[in-house]
Amino acid sequence: MSEFTALRVHAPEKNRTEARFERIGVDALSAGEVVVRVAWTGINYKDALAVTGKGRILKSYPKVPGIDLAGHVETSTDARYRPGDAVLVTGCNIGEVYDGGYAEFARVAADSIIRKPDGLTLRETMAIGTAGFTAAFALRRMLENHQAPAMGPIAITGPTGGVGSIAVDLFKRAGFTVHAITGKAGKADDYLRALGADEVIARQSLDVGNKPLESARWGGAVDNLGGETLAMLTRTVKPWGNIASIGLAQSHELHTTVMPFILRGVSLLGIHSVECPRAWREDIWAKLSGAWKPRVLERLVTREITLQELPAACEDLIAGTVTGRTLVRVSGAE
Ligand SMILES: NC(=O)c1ccc[n+]([C@@H]2O[C@H](COP(=O)([O-])OP(=O)(O)OC[C@H]3O[C@@H](n4cnc5c(N)ncnc54)[C@H](OP(=O)(O)O)[C@@H]3O)[C@@H](O)[C@H]2O)c1
Repeated sequence: MSEFTALRVHAPEKNRTEARFERIGVDALSAGEVVVRVAWTGINYKDALAVTGKGRILKSYPKVPGIDLAGHVETSTDARYRPGDAVLVTGCNIGEVYDGGYAEFARVAADSIIRKPDGLTLRETMAIGTAGFTAAFALRRMLENHQAPAMGPIAITGPTGGVGSIAVDLFKRAGFTVHAITGKAGKADDYLRALGADEVIARQSLDVGNKPLESARWGGAVDNLGGETLAMLTRTVKPWGNIASIGLAQSHELHTTVMPFILRGVSLLGIHSVECPRAWREDIWAKLSGAWKPRVLERLVTREITLQELPAACEDLIAGTVTGRTLVRVSGAE
């Protein structure tokens, strides 16, 4: 296989990284049984941190970022996969420990691969990506822990982001009333309502008090922010409600008390998509290609860019100005 284009991040100095396009051969990539010709990838918050160097996501250098990829098998030493098979990988430590999807070819572990489900195109799998997979993982865990629409509305924070946007769509589709708590109220209301939000609430205007238990308002919550926002949710979710803790866009800290847990039976559910057990992973993708397929996937894809446009698009994501999902066309094959 001849050389191909890859976006690789180097660390020329201890606390400085640099992302640049290079021509490399497949032997420069981390080991794996399957080489995939990448058709599509996307941008997740983590990818933006890795490319811009704003967060320590990559575990060694040089490294190809990109925690998601979809494409066709080029070569395989694993009997489960043959050249031409349509496949995808989300998480499983690609774009962190191993080289990821921001290149024309990727070499990955066979165990990390999911066959493209029949109900989705390769492009649609990357419109969903880790962001949508994670939102669906949260829905799955909350339903397993008896979250039901009759318990009250679901508060979704960071709803204009990748995870949040798909969460709004999924929870609405699952029969819940959805309250989108956003920092972009007034600017993104039409977008959020089109996805299924019943109410759009300005995060800055929320004043729910600081007592360990405040007036209970939401049946459950999906939180992408952490920090003060997650603490507020613990104080305001109704008895037996679940809060799926997904992200830290605001802060990695959490200051709360045990009161919501011992006096309201509230559950804080951890969501860790990277190392999601394979059986759950397959089940979630099967749901996402069928009953849970986002209804407004095309609305969620607000930008489609090329590999060359990735560095600038990652800067935009970190600046918090992006709404929805950014798709990256690599070879662009369906
Ligand atoms: N646990 C997991 O397995 C997992 C998987 C995927 C992602 N994540 C994490 O989940 C979070 C969301 O990921 P994403 O890909 O959806 O990111 P994203 O597309 O950048 O969306 C994050 C959203 O959070 C809000 N936000 C951004 N910066 C903020 C700040 N400084 N303070 C308060 N709100 C802010 C914005 O929404 P509004 O303007 O609408 O408020 C933004 O759209 C990230 O922390 C990411 O690392 C975790």
